[in-house]
Amino acid sequence: MPTALLRPQSFVDADGVGEWWIASDLDELALGTELPADHVLGVGGASRTLAELIVPVPVSRALDLGTGCGIQALLVSRHAGEVVATDVSTRALAFAALNARLNGVSNITFRQGSMFEPVVGEAFDLIVSNPPFVITPRVDGVTAYEYRDGGLIGDALVEQFVREAPAHLTPGGIAQLLGNWESLDSVGGLERLESWIGAGLDAWVIQREELTPLAYAELWIRDGGTTPREAAFGRMLEAWLDDFSARGVTAIGFGYVLLRRAADGLDPLRRFETLSQPLSAPGRALRDGLAAHDVLGAGIPQTLVTASDVTEARHYMPGNDDPSVIELRQGGGFGRIVAADSALAGFVGACDGELTVAQIAAALADLFEVPLAELWNELEPRIRELVRDGFLVAGE
Ligand SMILES: C[S@@+](CC[C@H](N)C(=O)[O-])C[C@H]1O[C@@H](n2cnc3c(N)ncnc32)[C@H](O)[C@@H]1O
Repeated sequence: MPTALLRPQSFVDADGVGEWWIASDLDELALGTELPADHVLGVGGASRTLAELIVPVPVSRALDLGTGCGIQALLVSRHAGEVVATDVSTRALAFAALNARLNGVSNITFRQGSMFEPVVGEAFDLIVSNPPFVITPRVDGVTAYEYRDGGLIGDALVEQFVREAPAHLTPGGIAQLLGNWESLDSVGGLERLESWIGAGLDAWVIQREELTPLAYAELWIRDGGTTPREAAFGRMLEAWLDDFSARGVTAIGFGYVLLRRAADGLDPLRRFETLSQPLSAPGRALRDGLAAHDVLGAGIPQTLVTASDVTEARHYMPGNDDPSVIELRQGGGFGRIVAADSALAGFVGACDGELTVAQIAAALADLFEVPLAELWNELEPRIRELVRDGFLVAGE
């Protein structure tokens, strides 16, 4: 009789391709029944999402809060001096410790406890968490799965994390988590999230999707192994919808939160955006975005280079010689597309790292026969935007 799953798990990081062996509890397919409340999840879609998001920078101390089978701790252990992995579940910690031993990883220590309790008074350069953020009604007949549900009401666990994490960051330290947040009748989810984050912190929140209460409830009822064919499905759906309606919830957002203890004296980064397009290597894109924010803190660099993944698309009305739409497109990272006018497109086209920003702007002012100050007023904020988003990078 099998007692656990053992699966190979490939990964790619700055040091190349590798593979872990990951042990976790039997899933519902293997069990043939609903999961028990103390189920320890293997590597799932959310685990992989967080793994790809983690900013790939070497750090001295890292924390993986809610480690489960230990996958994030293992990945982070490759670029951290030491990792502390915590969980409320003794069963999860046993699997995580087993997985560290199975894979010959010795720089992770394991601690039991809720949220930041096991690390009171300690600070980390990197905190990662795929926390139990799933919103669950607190009524009989709805199982509170340890692996996905922190036992609080609504999105209070995400709020608690976001409020408490900064006290555990070293200067420049980064915290990254996945989460759900509720939009209420009176206030949007991203606005609520923003209000939980201290004003002096860098914050970059990317909302990936928003579900209606009904779609959200169905998703998580099915995730627990209950199908619409079962009578329990309808009862659970009602419980979820009642819970949402009691708080006036109109939609539930899912996305990524990055917090950084900002360097003193710099304006903090505050970005709350919705991106639904596919992202490639988002961890690197976040790292580069943070670096670009820091660069811009000192002003626009003297020379700029157009990033190698940027292309330009021009659209013409039939028969017209002048384009009616010019778009700059990013091939990698966040795959952003921005509209440009001829002057901005000309500027980006000339950014080869040789000519200075001032020289390019002066040449364009001559070409378009407009006063330089006027052109610069229009170009300057757009250039900042393009540096911030990685279309333009600082020259040598
Ligand atoms: C969604 S799983 C994430 C597992 C793993 N880190 C991953 O990325 O696949 C959430 C984990 O948080 C743990 N957990 C639940 N409540 C917690 C709490 N209050 N404090 C810390 N961990 C908690 C669960 O036991 C579970 O292992």
